[in-house]
Parts: sequence; C-alpha cells; structure tokens
Amino acid sequence: MKVLVLGSGGREHALVWKLRQSPRVKKLYCAPGNGGIAQDAECVAADLKSLDSLVQLASRLNPAVTLVGPELPLTLGVVDEFQRRGWPVFGPTRAAAQLESSKSFAKEFMQRHRIPTAKYSVCNSKEELQEALKLFHPPMVVKADGLAAGKGVVIAQSKDEAQRTAEEMLSGKVLGGAGSRVVLEECLEGEELSFLVISDGERVAPLVASQDHKRVFDDDQGPNTGGMGAYSTDQVVDGQMRDWLVTHVARPVIDGMRAEGAAYKGILYCGIMMTARGPMVLEFNCRFGDPETQPILMRLESDLLEAIEASIQGRVSDGDFRWAPDPAVCVVMASGGYPGAFEAGKLIAGIEEADRVQGVKVFHAGTNRRDGSYYTSGGRVLGVTARGKDLPDAVERAYDAVMKVRFDGMHYRKDIAARGLKHLRAGK
Ligand code: AMP
Ligand code: GLY
Repeated sequence: MKVLVLGSGGREHALVWKLRQSPRVKKLYCAPGNGGIAQDAECVAADLKSLDSLVQLASRLNPAVTLVGPELPLTLGVVDEFQRRGWPVFGPTRAAAQLESSKSFAKEFMQRHRIPTAKYSVCNSKEELQEALKLFHPPMVVKADGLAAGKGVVIAQSKDEAQRTAEEMLSGKVLGGAGSRVVLEECLEGEELSFLVISDGERVAPLVASQDHKRVFDDDQGPNTGGMGAYSTDQVVDGQMRDWLVTHVARPVIDGMRAEGAAYKGILYCGIMMTARGPMVLEFNCRFGDPETQPILMRLESDLLEAIEASIQGRVSDGDFRWAPDPAVCVVMASGGYPGAFEAGKLIAGIEEADRVQGVKVFHAGTNRRDGSYYTSGGRVLGVTARGKDLPDAVERAYDAVMKVRFDGMHYRKDIAARGLKHLRAGK
C-alpha cells in the first residue's frame, strides 16, 4: 500500500524509517521531507500551512493512509478535511487538537475532568492579568494561549517579570494572535517525562515512556529549544506508574473528549512533571514528540502501520505495540546559534561513518542533499540515535557516532540521559 507522511523533521524521518520496515508498505511518500528522508521515501513538495495544498497532494498521490507529523496541519483541520473525503488519516480532528492549540482549553478541560495539573488563571486583558497576579507567588509560569513554536512559555522569577512578559504577549507584539490570551500558572518542580499513548477515540494503549532535554545547554541551562535529545528506558516509569498515568491522565482525557463531542484519535502526548505532590500534567501535544519519537521507535519491534491502522479503524489494544527491553538514546546535533538565529548551508561530514556504528541510526532533522553531500538546513540538524543492551551502552554508542560528525558551528548536549544514568547508579 501507499503511505504518505506529512512533515520534515527528525520525528518524520523516524516515522518513515519505521514504516519502511512494514512488509505491507510498498510506496512511501514524505511531504516535504528532507535530505535524509529522501533516502527512505519519495519526497514531494507541500505547504503544510495550506489545507488546499495538502488536499491536492493527497488526491494526486492517493495514499491508503496519511500520517500527520507536526501540530500545525492538525490544528488547521487536515484530519477533518481528509475524513470528509473518506481518506484514511491518522491524528486528531481540529476540535480534538485544541488540547495542544489552546492552553486555556487544555487547562479548563483538565479542571472539568479532575486531571492533576498546576493551579492556573486565564487572562484575556491587562485588567484580568492584574487580578490574576495577586493569586501567584514567584517563580510563576506565563504561557501564551496559542501555538508559539516553543517560545510561548516563560518562567518568571518575579511578579514584575511575569507582568512584563504577559503584557508583551497580550499586546500581540511578540507572538501575534497566539498571545492574545495568556495563562498564568503555578511553577511546578520535579522531573519531567513524556508519556505518549495511542487512542482510537475510546481505547488507549501506552507507548514506552521517555525524557526530553528541552534546554539548550548541559545541566538544563540556557533557553528552551524544541528538544536537544531524549532517551527511553523501562526505568523511566515502572508498570505501576504507567497504569497510574493511564488511569488518572490518559483515560480521563480520552473519555472526557468523547463525552464533549470531540473524540480524540491519534497520539496523545502527555507532558508530565513528577512533583512531590504526585504526577501533574504540564501540557498536551496532539502528535508524536520530537525528538522523543526517535528513541521510542528504535525500541519498537512490532509493525507501526498496524498500530496506526488500529487507531484509524477503532480497534486499539494493548497488544498493538511490542517493545524491546533495550534502552535508546537520541542526541540532537544543532546549528550554531540555535535556538536563536543560525546560518544554514554548512557542509556536513561523517554521517555515513556515524550510521555505521553498531546500533546507531542517524535521523535527519534539518538537512538537504546536493551532489551527493548533505548540508544543514535547519536549527536541529541531526538526531543521532542508538539502541544498546543497557543505558550506558546506548549512551556510549550514541556519542561514539556523534564524534564522527562535523559541521561548522555544530553544538550538542553532552549529558543526554545523564538523569537516567544517575538513577541507575542510585539503584532505582
Ligand atoms: P509547555 O509548552 O506547556 O509544555 O511548556 C514547555 C516547558 O515549560 C515544559 O516542558 C516545562 O519544562 C516548562 N513548564 C511548563 N509549565 C510549567 C509549570 N507549570 N511549572 C514548571 N515548568 C513548566
Ligand atoms: N519534544 C517536545 C515536543 O515534541 O513538543
């Protein structure tokens, strides 16, 4: 069968790589894809911001299934458009994707369904902000309501900073419409984890848990990024915690969305903070995480297409995924300057050597290919991902491979999975 993947990052490369292993996939397209994805799928041009362009593309290619990688087409309603035409597509509808596209929707939904989350206040104006500021103590979190490509969350160290940040967002000068409503939140402390489940609108099956590394520098210093690396091991959450998260977070979300008339199908990404008061939801995403998907799919032994079809056809079950016990680690190699301004077009050396390290797959996030060479084309360039017999082994393989890659200005974190290694040493 023909399968179409929408997107162009490391997550989409991992999806394409895994789908290629499915015996039933005869033809794979990726729109628009990147230089590395082009080795595994046929890349076709597409404008992910335009539903018309995506409908035209799918009517031309006629895929048996379409998988949507990033949030933007989902929040614009690509699933609604495809469903209306009877085309099988994986992901939530526009109404269901509000769990990611509107933070105030997500917070109010969690309150209605008693899902544990930080105390919050929604502000539509400067006046409402003044009142809300009285309810919180610094540090406090200021969030733009809409999608802001990772720039919509600020942890303010003082009330003044919170006020300034929130007023800037409300003025529309920094984030446009995404900031016309602001959510103030209590600041939670603890370890973060990414808990993803697949659903068909009714049933839920969890994927293996992972941890992201959002800050740009080692020891979680510097500004937030899309994610500088991730790892997945069975130690991240034990069976008891996994069941707790399904019962107290994932299932209430799926049941609640269905009850409210917006059944949620696809991947639900629950960003969790493990606080002293128990696990609490930081955010929902309506899609696979990037870079979490890279190590998660390295551990998947069963057929990804089967699980995707189970979601589309309404027959998700716990048996849809079979996982290797081996941990996996993804180290993101980024362009100089990222997450700020960066230059593209740098020649990348050593990708083939890195790919030859045992247990390693180099996923491309921002590359293009010209005359047989790869060049940088984005902030996050590569996701060097390794599977190993244990976490230290996976970490060693990933960094062995990283050392073989060179491009002007490159930087990466040296401490991906350090928290997991520390827990191992502490014996928990
Ligand atoms: P979000 O876009 O809501 O996921 O926020 C991005 C990142 O900001 C999260 O991964 C956390 O690291 C941080 N964050 C969000 N909300 C909170 C909170 N209430 N307390 C502490 N950190 C937070
Ligand atoms: N890695 C965080 C995200 O995908 O949103």
